[in-house]
Amino acid sequence: MAEVTLGLDIGTSGVKVVALNAAGQQVAQASRSYELLTPHPGWTEQRPQDWAAATLDALGEVAAKLKTDGHTPGALGLSGQMHGAVFLDAQGEVIRPAPLWNDQRTGAAVAEIEAAMPRAELIARTGNRAVSGFQLPKLLWLRATEPENFARVAKVLLPKDYLGFVLTGRYHTEPSDAAGIGALNLASKTWDEGVLAALNLSPELFPEVAESWDVVGELLPEVVAKTGLPAGLKIVAGGGDNAAAGVALGLSSARPDVGSVSLGTSGVLFVPLTEPTPDPLGRVHLFAHADGGYNLLGVTLSAAGALQWFRDKLAPGVSFDTLMNEAASVPSGADGVTFLPFLSGERSPHMNSELRASFSGLSLSSGRPQMVRALLEGAAFALADAYTVMRPHSGVTTLLATGGGARSKLWLGMVAGALGLDVQQIAHEPGAAEGAAILAMPAAGLYPDVQSAMTALAPSGESVQAVDVAGALSAYQAARAQVVGESQ
Ligand code: XUL
Repeated sequence: MAEVTLGLDIGTSGVKVVALNAAGQQVAQASRSYELLTPHPGWTEQRPQDWAAATLDALGEVAAKLKTDGHTPGALGLSGQMHGAVFLDAQGEVIRPAPLWNDQRTGAAVAEIEAAMPRAELIARTGNRAVSGFQLPKLLWLRATEPENFARVAKVLLPKDYLGFVLTGRYHTEPSDAAGIGALNLASKTWDEGVLAALNLSPELFPEVAESWDVVGELLPEVVAKTGLPAGLKIVAGGGDNAAAGVALGLSSARPDVGSVSLGTSGVLFVPLTEPTPDPLGRVHLFAHADGGYNLLGVTLSAAGALQWFRDKLAPGVSFDTLMNEAASVPSGADGVTFLPFLSGERSPHMNSELRASFSGLSLSSGRPQMVRALLEGAAFALADAYTVMRPHSGVTTLLATGGGARSKLWLGMVAGALGLDVQQIAHEPGAAEGAAILAMPAAGLYPDVQSAMTALAPSGESVQAVDVAGALSAYQAARAQVVGESQ
């Protein structure tokens, strides 16, 4: 009888593998890092072979630990960074390095998609407008820019699905990650032939879509030999990293009153939905959730990343605690200072990579404490702008907080005040690898289905005190209105 499941997360900086028991406790873990390639400004790539080597190595370490401790893994679930494009030839060989989710090379391909299908129709079919980071424009970029490579493409896979292929020799995906390609019909969770026909692409280029909790194959004998994992280990389709992290937090589309907010480099709002209801203007993403339902995803590009930028460039050597204490010493509204956090442009809701950040309202009495307070408020208000677009579809009353910035009660209090929601801190923050392990639990016989595993394993949180930000919010909105203009 299996006692544990494995989950892996192919992240942007490295891979993490965890083993969880049925109570959700971690019994083993390993991680490995790999290189990020930036061959041109705005390009980000990784070698899929590096992901594979790092993953097999990490799996080997976890397998050895499980053996020593007498645990038997029953299944392995996949998760990873969304949107990347692994181009494979007919022999399953990688054709070129994979452009990643944050790659910016696809401007012309996005225009090609917009010209091929009206934006409203694309949103109605796929839940999203054409987004430069998604996988579909990467494929069109390859066709236009590297035609000899495009001619060799037999399959294009997402990062975690490439790992699935390495482990099982089979091509599969599942709806939560496939929704981030830009060609999945969200209502039917099958490839949208209308979108693909409009772009003259064959559905054969894409893998079969399984359910997130389905077994998509068994470990290949050579992988068994390399890692020491048991022969016949079941591989479960899993989920994109945001959906898998949502599973680990117990965010269920069957009970969509709890969502999450992540204050990492970027700020991410995850709102579970029972029905696929897109924002009609595509200002936030609509994806399939890995629990069988749907979710809205709002992504603001500079959250804790803005604080990191401020510290590195303007206050080098100063600790984050010092900066946070300074911010706490200033009243709400930062004595009239406002910060628009568009250091890398903005995704939700403005969808404009040209936007840039600014401080305004500075006076001779303004100093670092006012600027840090304004920065924290600005990041919270950017999330509130994204949430305004999500609110008509959202049943969320509580947000579980994750990411480095979630250690600050002050910052979370600003988010609670700005969004008008209960925001909760959690003690031990599970991530995508844990979610992938939970998605594998039904296949291992540990739970009857994903919903019951999520219900049993959901972490509980503690509400933070909301900060009254009403005055500061209206000053921010006035400053934002001046620069955003018609960008939506
Ligand atoms: C989601 C997105 C990121 C990646 C990062 O749309 O682009 O969250 O999944 O791993």
